[in-house]
Amino acid sequence: MTVLEFDGTTNANVPELLSPPAFPVLGHLPAIRRDPLHYVANLVAEYGDVIPLKLGPHRVLMVNHPDHIKHVLQDNFRNYRKSDFYEAVRPLLGDGIIMSDGEEWLSQRRTMVPAFQGVHLTRIGKAMTDAIADMLDRWQGDQLSGRPFDITAEMMKVTLDALVRSLFGRRSGTQKEAFFDAITVVLQRSEKRVWALANLPLSIPTPSNVKFVAALRELEAIVWSMIEQRRENPAAGEDLLSMLMAAYDLGGSEADLNMLRDQVMSMLLAGHETTANALNWTWYLLSKNPGIERRVREEVRGALGDRTPEFADLPKLSYTKMVFEEAMRLYPPVWTMSRAALEPDRLGDHEVEPGTTVMLCPYAVQRNPRYWPNPEGFDPERFTPEAKKARPRYAYFPFAGGARVCLGQHFATMEAQLLIAMVMQRCQLDLVPGQTIEPQPMITLRPKDKVMMVASPADGQHQIAA
Ligand code: HEM
Repeated sequence: MTVLEFDGTTNANVPELLSPPAFPVLGHLPAIRRDPLHYVANLVAEYGDVIPLKLGPHRVLMVNHPDHIKHVLQDNFRNYRKSDFYEAVRPLLGDGIIMSDGEEWLSQRRTMVPAFQGVHLTRIGKAMTDAIADMLDRWQGDQLSGRPFDITAEMMKVTLDALVRSLFGRRSGTQKEAFFDAITVVLQRSEKRVWALANLPLSIPTPSNVKFVAALRELEAIVWSMIEQRRENPAAGEDLLSMLMAAYDLGGSEADLNMLRDQVMSMLLAGHETTANALNWTWYLLSKNPGIERRVREEVRGALGDRTPEFADLPKLSYTKMVFEEAMRLYPPVWTMSRAALEPDRLGDHEVEPGTTVMLCPYAVQRNPRYWPNPEGFDPERFTPEAKKARPRYAYFPFAGGARVCLGQHFATMEAQLLIAMVMQRCQLDLVPGQTIEPQPMITLRPKDKVMMVASPADGQHQIAA
């Protein structure tokens, strides 16, 4: 059994845990801040399955072995709460489902799960295809004239629209731009706060805090206006918003109302930017791999022809799903997550002390050549049922796993299948040549700059069908 000491000493008989060189006080923080993605991917190659790191004041264990990841997320998940790194987003998410732990979390999860199941799926699918059709109509006049456009911005808008229509029963309309700008500011600031050594309280009016708080208030105003509209028209929908309002709004206490706000905000944040980034990377990879793009197009043509897809069509779009899964392997939207140990625990031979932060990095594990031959290559065949069965379950975990698995994983996958199919039916997307596209690890894995694409009519049509 190894007792972890952060001066690098270990006791005998078990393989020693190696830690990369570190600075005094700051530890590995400067290195991880400089180039997070390369740093974490290289660490796995050089230092193995369990790597002690020191990120400023935090003692961190970076855990890369699928069995250990399973242990933390699934088998012994009750021993792990969300780590202190999540505190950077508390001003945004309050005490909502992403931030909560224990019994409080369980009760919140039980309130929300039904909105993603059963009869709701068909209605959610329809709300999604309506949002996607509106996007394609927008593209018709504009993008099909050959004018380059930023696919990331388009994916952000359509995923927000689909989310708001399907879970909150209304169009995002004119508030889309305002929401989009505000959430970008909030996420950028939150990201800085995650990796900072210390953060000044938001009440201190530094320029950065002032900007952050203004964007936060803007988001809150949008959330309250959605709640207000539903109060005025309670019959508008039997959706997530109505379930949340039944749970929190009826009491009317300040605590309940704050919780309602926190939950709506949490769902907007969890469900929008993640899916948008996954789709963005999917289009990027498809445009780089025309043979795979052609196969998706053939699947869509065979399964649907020109018909708008619906929930019942999803099993027919299995290759499309594999493409989306492979895109999330290379570019997992949640590229890292972390937990803090409550009680002593073991990961294989290694002891975990209470308070240790365990860092799990889909980006690094999903590029580990031990589980992924030719890890940089884009190959959807890795996701055939046989290939999946042959790999450890937690060699791939873009949606985390266990009891706290992403609540929207099927929602996001359905949205991706519907969106890819509908775009393919109407047009072809090509990357504008000469761009260097690089990922930027914010809270989600975004592209660093715009990703400019041109759309042309599918199958050599000169006009897309309206
Ligand atoms: C491709 C898109 C998505 C990805 C990759 C993704 C990934 C994740 C991951 C990794 C977590 C766990 C985070 C952690 O525990 O630290 C998570 C949690 C969560 N996600 Fe997603 N997500 C996506 C889309 C969505 C959507 C569309 C929704 C809602 C409509 C959603 C709702 C949630 C919620 C509520 C949680 C917290 C669950 C809990 O703690 O019980 N996500 N997601």
